[in-house]
Amino acid sequence: MIDTNNFLLRNLWYYALPSHVLKPGQMVARTFLGEPVLLTRRLDGQVFAVKDICPHRAVPLSCGRFDGQEVECCYHGWRFDPGGHCVAIPSLLPEQSMDLSRFDVRSYPVYETQGNIWIYIADGDNSQTSDPAKEIPVIPGFSEQSPELVEVMRFPCFIDHAVTGLMDPAHSPYVHRVWWWRAGELHEEVKQFDPSPYGFTIRRHQLSESMGRLYWLIGGGLPEVEISFRLPGVRVEEITLGKHRVCNLTAVTPISETETDVTFALYGIPAALKIFKPLMYLLVRQFLGQDRMVVEKQQIGLKHDPVLRLIKDSDMQAQWYYQLKREYARALSEKREFVNPVKSQILRWRA
Ligand code: FES
Ligand SMILES: [Fe+2]
Repeated sequence: MIDTNNFLLRNLWYYALPSHVLKPGQMVARTFLGEPVLLTRRLDGQVFAVKDICPHRAVPLSCGRFDGQEVECCYHGWRFDPGGHCVAIPSLLPEQSMDLSRFDVRSYPVYETQGNIWIYIADGDNSQTSDPAKEIPVIPGFSEQSPELVEVMRFPCFIDHAVTGLMDPAHSPYVHRVWWWRAGELHEEVKQFDPSPYGFTIRRHQLSESMGRLYWLIGGGLPEVEISFRLPGVRVEEITLGKHRVCNLTAVTPISETETDVTFALYGIPAALKIFKPLMYLLVRQFLGQDRMVVEKQQIGLKHDPVLRLIKDSDMQAQWYYQLKREYARALSEKREFVNPVKSQILRWRA
């Protein structure tokens, strides 16, 4: 049984969007945690994010224009720099001088790395932030390289259901039943887990033969895998296959209480396999689509507000997620250091 966890964590970095979606001189409007956000990229490449509401009469700034330097509201032409500072009010006469800083728009810290844009969503108008270099997971071994394949899919659910689905080992044989992913029967799995920053890590292990037929098709023997998870819902999977290393970042971003974006980004596709990229896109879409489909069905039952049951050991990761989330919120409100509730242990399940 779990108690109420239906809250969105704030004061954290969330995955905003893949870098390539926002070209220099362009703007993109999005909603994160129910807040309308306007992301812009200046001509020099720098990314900014501000609240997408004009402080004058609330028209979304995204309805206006961005010339690569300033955003102009479509209603009365007030202009803002990408950092949200009001820089011009055209209706003012030269002698009607006014302190324009009274009309600044709230700005959000953003951080771009490895082909991804992250955004810090603070509590209220608080613009405090935490060190992105420490808080945003690094895809190991890819310095500033961008992912070679990115897919974003919107799930019709609250973030928790997307995350627990992502970290759920027991659903694969039922939800992802496709020939290339795995064989039909269930096998016992034994995995060593350790605490890691704001989450936990499944210690490096060799994929069993029944799993990962896809990798087996790629060749190079059985790959080794290490998977880490951290708040607010970021999973990094590192697959080592001979001398190749393929990494997958899956990040979950709440759009609202009822919608969540799941981003899947793949790094290090071996050169010889790049011609299969269209096929990989299909497979990734199929795979994420299966997760989305089951979450859609789950919504039918969740409408009745049932008590959900979590079992050992296959739901342990879901339980840890809820514990991590509660601890993060508690540590913040008590203004103390976060204490990771996860302890090193071995988990066993059939999948
Ligand atoms: S509403 Fe934006 S300038 Fe008036
Ligand atoms: Fe899944």
